[in-house]
Amino acid sequence: MKVNGAHYRSIWCEGNGGQSVKIIDQTRLPHAFVVVALESLEDAATAIETMQVRGAPLIGATAAYGIALALKVDASDEALEAAAARLRRTRPTAINLNWAIDEMLAAIRNRPREARAAAAFAKAAEICDEDVETNRCIGKHGLALIQEIAKEKAGQTVNILTHCNAGWIATVDWGTALAPIYMAHEAEIPVHVWVDETRPRNQGAALTAWELGQHGVPHTIIADNSGGHLMQHGQVDLCIVGTDRTTAQGDVANKIGTYLKALAARDNNIPFYVALPSSTIDWTIKDGVAEIPIEQRSPTEVTHMTGRSAQGDIITVEIAAPGSPAANYAFDVTPARLVTGLITERGLCPASTEGLLSLFPERRG
Ligand code: MRU
Repeated sequence: MKVNGAHYRSIWCEGNGGQSVKIIDQTRLPHAFVVVALESLEDAATAIETMQVRGAPLIGATAAYGIALALKVDASDEALEAAAARLRRTRPTAINLNWAIDEMLAAIRNRPREARAAAAFAKAAEICDEDVETNRCIGKHGLALIQEIAKEKAGQTVNILTHCNAGWIATVDWGTALAPIYMAHEAEIPVHVWVDETRPRNQGAALTAWELGQHGVPHTIIADNSGGHLMQHGQVDLCIVGTDRTTAQGDVANKIGTYLKALAARDNNIPFYVALPSSTIDWTIKDGVAEIPIEQRSPTEVTHMTGRSAQGDIITVEIAAPGSPAANYAFDVTPARLVTGLITERGLCPASTEGLLSLFPERRG
């Protein structure tokens, strides 16, 4: 997708043989567009932990390059396993991280040491290219949904609510939840996006609003608690969100607050869709509430906020009563019963075991 008119992916390699891995530092957006080089395994792991890169698919892609960067220095079995273990510890909820690491290990383990680094860079690039194609397909399938609603509304604007950032900057390109919206906008369907600010880290206000703005997609940032009110007043036609982990029965973990939006959508009879690449499905678990590990982050993300001052400086200010404890759960789980449908690269399906298996029959048994 585009930044000031120029095409970017959220992660890329420069130099023959992928010697330099570049990312867009998402902790600086929307106030500064800063490209950062990842030179080592530790750079990649830290970028994931500090959320310079974030969003389930991009975390996976960065981990893949993290393994390649580790092998550049030491291609032994021990170094490979240590790199995988280091990266697995960075963030616990998004399963794409483990998926990408497993893909890398399978592609590298049986190769001679001297061929490992090059093979790892090639495999990481393949994972990135696949992500772009997958998201393009998600966009196409989700577009059909928006087209249907647009037809029912006879040309009136289709209002879509999204939570957090599941746009191109959370993936390698296109995004998951935002891919159908970009395609609808390109197809000249009038769409407008309600962007949940997404406290505490404000991925909606900072990232979703930024990338929609870069593409000229009409949008409005709302406080996280506004969605229910807008739904009650006919201002939301459809919700689309992303997910960090989807269970075999269709429960979805996504940014904290997603569950509340799904409850409000159900109460107001508004379709609530979740867009996901199949790499986000954890086929080993069923009950998301009981089985998905929920990341807890620093309480300072709740007690403090970072933004741009009137002088143009990026500053962090305390917003809570000094000394009060704070809890920071990064994700919640929306049970499948509240999800109208899943939008995957293979098409739409009900959020259920049978629904998922109808699209991924190779997982039966
Ligand atoms: O903590 P984050 O910013 O990594 O959380 C991201 C989300 O919750 C996204 O909705 C999810 O990863 C889907 S990204 C296509």
